[in-house]
Amino acid sequence: MVCLITGSSRGLGKAIALALGKRGHQIVVHYKGREKEAEDVASCIGKSVVLRADVRVFDEVRVLVDEVIKKWGRIDVLVNNAGVTREALLLKTSEKDFDEVVDTNLKGPFNFIHAVAPFMTEKKGGHIINISSIAGLKGKAGLPAYSASKSGLIGLTMSAASELSVYDIMVNAVLPGYLLTDMGRSSSDKAKGIALKDSLVKDFSNTDNVVEFICYLSETKGITGQVFNLDSRIL
Ligand SMILES: NC(=O)c1ccc[n+]([C@@H]2O[C@H](COP(=O)([O-])OP(=O)(O)OC[C@H]3O[C@@H](n4cnc5c(N)ncnc54)[C@H](OP(=O)(O)O)[C@@H]3O)[C@@H](O)[C@H]2O)c1
Repeated sequence: MVCLITGSSRGLGKAIALALGKRGHQIVVHYKGREKEAEDVASCIGKSVVLRADVRVFDEVRVLVDEVIKKWGRIDVLVNNAGVTREALLLKTSEKDFDEVVDTNLKGPFNFIHAVAPFMTEKKGGHIINISSIAGLKGKAGLPAYSASKSGLIGLTMSAASELSVYDIMVNAVLPGYLLTDMGRSSSDKAKGIALKDSLVKDFSNTDNVVEFICYLSETKGITGQVFNLDSRIL
């Protein structure tokens, strides 16, 4: 399978790219700013290509997808993983920060689905996995833009699943729980403390579990329009 994982230069995306690569799939390692890290990820994978695009920019995404199609002729799995967060109370959130988070976490997946789905449609199959968050279901204080973007991504998942099931394209959302990636580590001590307190197992999430689940899901047929919560915090 040809698998495109957005934001796979580091964090969860890197772990997904490495795991799918280990399973023998062709991997598109995608990044925005960290080219060296992306090249390092690709060097651990047999069949891979490293491509840059700002997920917020419709035309950059289109060019990237066209390059993959030119090289491999198809895209079987799209993981919309690239994301950012800004921690601030609603009234302290600037318009610029709100736009950046929503454009990255919600418009980015729209841009990729818009560019990739026609090629999946042509091949009559594919799987799109959108990485959302429990914040998208619960709406966290201090994360208004992030919560809105991740909630919107769940709506986008269900809408796209409804439209694309006729072509055997599965679209699902995965909520990974709190991971100690760059994003997770950069949150305030207060936010990390609340996450630990709310966790029923009193621990952060395990990246390996999330990656295993995504690898499994990417190979399934007949499961679509669902939201898989891998968190240990109850809503
Ligand atoms: N960490 C958590 O606790 C947690 C919990 C739930 C959900 N999630 C979600 O899981 C996903 C991965 O998070 P993570 O923790 O692995 O984050 P991370 O370590 O901060 O990595 C973010 C990735 O997104 C890419 N990226 C950011 N903005 C981009 C843009 N405008 N265009 C293209 N690429 C962009 C980065 O590329 P560069 O390296 O090139 O900048 C990087 O590869 C995100 O969607 C996040 O919201 C994370």
